[in-house]
Amino acid sequence: MFFAKETAEEYQLNPEKMPKHIAIIMDGNGRWATKRSLPRKAGHKAGAEALEKIIYAAKELGLEHLTVYAFSTENWKRSEEEVGAIMDILRFYLKNYFKKFVKDDIRMHVIGDKTRLDQDIQDAIEEIEALSKEKQGMTVHIALNYGGRDELRRAVGKIAQDVAEGRLAAADVTEDVITNALDTAGTPDPELMIRTSGEERISNFLLWQIAYSEFYFSDMLWPDFDKKELEKAIYYYQNRERRFGGRLK
Ligand code: IPE
Ligand code: IPE
Ligand code: MG
Repeated sequence: MFFAKETAEEYQLNPEKMPKHIAIIMDGNGRWATKRSLPRKAGHKAGAEALEKIIYAAKELGLEHLTVYAFSTENWKRSEEEVGAIMDILRFYLKNYFKKFVKDDIRMHVIGDKTRLDQDIQDAIEEIEALSKEKQGMTVHIALNYGGRDELRRAVGKIAQDVAEGRLAAADVTEDVITNALDTAGTPDPELMIRTSGEERISNFLLWQIAYSEFYFSDMLWPDFDKKELEKAIYYYQNRERRFGGRLK
């Protein structure tokens, strides 16, 4: 019944059951713009502004990791104009705004295959990651040209190379070896996965890491997503019974 609550004040979050890591599929920018008779790129800009607010909201709530899906390996299929607009927004944020996050003690980390991004974007990513690597407040992982299958393909390639060159025996390829070969190495799995815009699918996000995540699907379009809705998702999570394949007594 907790879905019926109307105001944030009513979501009594339990500080002892806060997730450490939330992953978000930020979907619905295009529909948000279309509803307002605006070009899709206006939706992406509004989406970036929503992300900015959610990063600070997540930090205030005490999360350690926030992973957001910004651009998938499949998103290149969109028009050149739309891809260009998304990359321009990304460029702007990387080169200007992200420094503000760093000042606020936030570590920035990019997951995905960076090699397909423009060189100046790759350079800006390297710079911001280096600048923020000691920050302790919270880590924001931005998934860029990210696909769960592509990430696994790259991890398998690295492991195969280690085996071929004699650094690792095939029999020693444990789950930990795979976990540590992924872009997310060192980050705990997300306890909660949120997708906005009413779609209920994974769209190739974090396939390995979400084995036991709870899912929260919000009907809100991403640019409208706010702290209150984030709290609602966490409230939902805190009231789930996680079993991990076992049984509660
Ligand atoms: C999510 O919004 C942002 C990206 C995929 C880059 P969409 O652009 O997918 O918005 P809809 O789903 O078309 O509304
Ligand atoms: C998933 O959204 C990717 C991002 C949010 C970056 P899409 O809009 O690309 O996914 P589909 O096409 O609805 O599955
Ligand atoms: Mg979409």
